[in-house]
Amino acid sequence: MHNHLLGHRTPGTGFGPTYHALLGEPPVISRSPWWRRKRQALLQIAGEASPCFVYDEASLHEAAEQMLRLSAIDRCFYAIKASHHPSVLRAFYQKGLGFECVSLGELELIRQHFPKLDPERILFTPNFVPQKEYETGFGYAGHVTLDGIRPLELWPETFASRHIMVRVDPGRGHGHHRHVRTAGAQSKFGVVPEALPRVAHLAKRAGATVVGLHAHVGSGILQRETWLETARFLASFAEQFSQVRLLNIGGGFGVPEHPGAVALDLDALNSELLEFRKAHPQLSLWVEPGRYLVAEAGVLLARVTQIKKKGNTRYVGIETGMNSLIRPALYGACHRIVNLSRLGEPCTITAEVVGPICETGDTLGHAQRLPPTQEGDVLLIATAGAYGRTMSSDYNLRPPATERVLRRR
Ligand code: LLP
Repeated sequence: MHNHLLGHRTPGTGFGPTYHALLGEPPVISRSPWWRRKRQALLQIAGEASPCFVYDEASLHEAAEQMLRLSAIDRCFYAIKASHHPSVLRAFYQKGLGFECVSLGELELIRQHFPKLDPERILFTPNFVPQKEYETGFGYAGHVTLDGIRPLELWPETFASRHIMVRVDPGRGHGHHRHVRTAGAQSKFGVVPEALPRVAHLAKRAGATVVGLHAHVGSGILQRETWLETARFLASFAEQFSQVRLLNIGGGFGVPEHPGAVALDLDALNSELLEFRKAHPQLSLWVEPGRYLVAEAGVLLARVTQIKKKGNTRYVGIETGMNSLIRPALYGACHRIVNLSRLGEPCTITAEVVGPICETGDTLGHAQRLPPTQEGDVLLIATAGAYGRTMSSDYNLRPPATERVLRRR
């Protein structure tokens, strides 16, 4: 099934030659975030729609271009759990990316938006799901990844004459918080390498062909060596399966969130992976990033509702909180916060930026340095494009922030 892919491989394009025509010159990466340049437009949107997430279409395209410049990578599937806003999906569809889905809901959404999409561009990676989801998943997705042995034991008929990929646990996770490290003894994902001979046996008995190995070790990773290690790890098991031709080395590509954090050097990563490719010319490499493609393209805008001083602490309250962006509460994630109304004014106060939700954890930013801030000012919470709206809720019956898009000119 996959040989033809190797035949017309266009480095970094994902899915054949059409993409390169779209790629053009390397993007100029400005050091200053896009939202500084587009402040007026953002303030206008905030005036009409705050609280709201705003996605910058041009930044979505730029992020995709950066990922697609990894010429060592054959295919890039966007993990839509990070954001499934229609404009986000359309931007990546136009760029020629595939889509990684983890539920029937996500698969159906992709089909709804792109009814004619080649199933080759859909990867289904479910975890602990019932038999029906695999059966339905094979109908949508060109590629299905098994996350354990049990489905082959329980429902061999579902996998008869299917091509499958198998997720392997490299034993050590990485990422910005323990909840997002998806390998190692504490993690529910994948099969341990010792179980691979049994996977091979069960797959054969079921009449399935294992064509690929997969590992995704975590999220928000800024250590470049991670993906080369994953590739080497998976390659070391490839020969246990006579038909394995591809390695999916996962997503997890981080973007700097903490002050002083250093961005991933994708060019250097590419060089390392090209070396790997030389040593393993028979294996294709796939990736499935979410955050890297959308985090920086999205911001959350919210007006200041009330300011309170209690003891030595100053609280700046805004219209929305963990119901829109749960990452700070859930992972202690760091999101830069600026006062967009007073951008450029000296930061002379320190404040806790909090939402209106009835939980002490409803804090979007601790000890934030801000200019003297007043009720009605618009605050901007940065790198909110990934896992913002998709993880939001209507807790306290407060609807989460809506979504807007700044179109490309
Ligand atoms: N592939 C698999 C199998 C995954 O489980 C995930 C994310 C991805 C790819 C994409 O990972 P990314 O490139 O976006 O890091 N809610 C957390 C992140 C959880 C990610 C879950 N799985 C956060 O907000 O940091």
